[in-house]
Amino acid sequence: MSDLLTRSPGWSLPQAAYTDPDLYDADLDRVFAAHWLFAGHTAELDAPGRYLTVDVGRDRVIVVRGEDGAVHAHHDVCAHRGSRVTAEPRGRVKAFVCPYHQWVYGLDGTLRSARLMGDCFATASYRLAPVAVRETAGLVFVCLADDPPAFEPFAAALEPRLGPHGLADARIAVRHHYRVAANWKTLVENNRECYHCAGSHPEFSLSNFDVGVHGDVRTNPRYDRALADARAHWSAQGLPAEDVSFPGGDWYRIARLPLREGYVSETLDGQPLAPPMGTLSDPDVGSLRMVSLPNMWGHANADYAMTTRLTPVDVATTDVELCFLVARDAVVDEDDLAAVWRATSEQDWELCERNYAGIASRGYRPGPLSPVVEASVESFLDWYLDALGGAARAA
Ligand code: FES
Ligand SMILES: [Fe+2]
Repeated sequence: MSDLLTRSPGWSLPQAAYTDPDLYDADLDRVFAAHWLFAGHTAELDAPGRYLTVDVGRDRVIVVRGEDGAVHAHHDVCAHRGSRVTAEPRGRVKAFVCPYHQWVYGLDGTLRSARLMGDCFATASYRLAPVAVRETAGLVFVCLADDPPAFEPFAAALEPRLGPHGLADARIAVRHHYRVAANWKTLVENNRECYHCAGSHPEFSLSNFDVGVHGDVRTNPRYDRALADARAHWSAQGLPAEDVSFPGGDWYRIARLPLREGYVSETLDGQPLAPPMGTLSDPDVGSLRMVSLPNMWGHANADYAMTTRLTPVDVATTDVELCFLVARDAVVDEDDLAAVWRATSEQDWELCERNYAGIASRGYRPGPLSPVVEASVESFLDWYLDALGGAARAA
């Protein structure tokens, strides 16, 4: 990690931060295993036994709806000799039956039966090891740490803003998987700036202003007026208008931004594709942006929401799952629904892969971040280096 110490504020990271396998292991330990990770949606866990899995390096977490209605999370490691218990990334089960010697676990992780273990075997002494899990406003998070960071401030900020969008009662209409040839930080950095948007995202730029995103210090009277008008409109609907943006350097941001005039949703023609979700009645609620470091961002319009989950695969590879949610009974054209964010995401993956190819090459040197439009990249790097070990920031 030594050359991270040479990182200067305002500059991109040294090459090793993106390419060194030891540093990647440190990322998994100190960033991914130490923080809350977006796992999935309440909508995917809508009945007892419905489960999904989250991979974090060599660790796999099972997240499952219990018979008691609560969400549970367990390490996917059998308490007998350690086999994985699940075979599929998601599904529905009555119990988890280890495929090796058929130990049977309840949805709450307790061991129910273990065949041929002798008369003295204390079944109640064994279970799938628990993992911290929280559910808020239709999103589910897990944390592998023994002593997880505080979750409640995030939930307190998210609930009143995202809650009215009704994600907990939604359905996932479209799901896309991508494998991106880039370090996970390259994808987060790309998400943290819109310097590239005008040049690369024609569909996104139809509905979104070029200014107003976090870390963009430009002022624009037309945007400021649109924001003030929109906030008055949202407040009248009971929606909190003010942003919660990485408070105290913390790991989350939730901000509702206005869309361009004539656009009430991030769709190609700006018109909603589905009825308002949840308790929303007005189709014009702008677009609620959510970021939770290190592995999620999403946008919630009135008619649909999009979430993006990152899963590091190795130092140079990141898996991405993109989900589109609508009201449970909404009838939608799936291509139209996904049009803007599928295009935007695929454009981003191409940018990230090109970026990473250069970063990984002999010619790469750290470069200067724009103080005008890349301050959010800088704050992500601050957060990352703090998580990694603090000392790296001092140089
Ligand atoms: S390793 Fe699971 S039952 Fe043996
Ligand atoms: Fe982008």
